Amino acid sequence: MILEIVTYPAEILRKRAEQVTEITPEIKKLIADMKDTLYEAKGYGLAAPQVGSSIQLLVLDETAGKEGQRPQVFINPVLSDEEGEIVAEEGCLSVPGEYSTCKRFAKLTVNALNERLEPISMVAEGQLARILQHETDHLNGVLFLDRLPSFKRDTIKKHIKRRIQQGEY
Ligand code: NI
Repeated sequence: MILEIVTYPAEILRKRAEQVTEITPEIKKLIADMKDTLYEAKGYGLAAPQVGSSIQLLVLDETAGKEGQRPQVFINPVLSDEEGEIVAEEGCLSVPGEYSTCKRFAKLTVNALNERLEPISMVAEGQLARILQHETDHLNGVLFLDRLPSFKRDTIKKHIKRRIQQGEY
């Protein structure tokens, strides 16, 4: 089932999401729906707060499904051992139509649980590292806009305001 994606400046995008302690039937359904929604939106990643559930769950696919669907689920993710930096263009399904170059760590370690609540640990680089940082930010109420230099952030916020006034956002 395709879920509605919450857009900036919705309040839920600013909340710290709750830890997941068990996979209830509702969460199982949510994971399946988030995968459907991610591919429908042609996104690289989707965090549960973006579909209205303030829990520490994210789904990503580093090719956005362009090389066949290979969704990965991360629950209660913790990032560590960040190193290097890469500047690349970034956008967000919750900030539709707005893009900016954004500086991120080039490499990191992620510890999380998979959808069977088994611990997983991996070193991520490049695109996967970028998506993990972007989506983990969502679980902490942080948007990519917050990671931009203030002049870029202000430009995007003004642009969104104008789009809202014109009924185009
Ligand atoms: Ni996003």
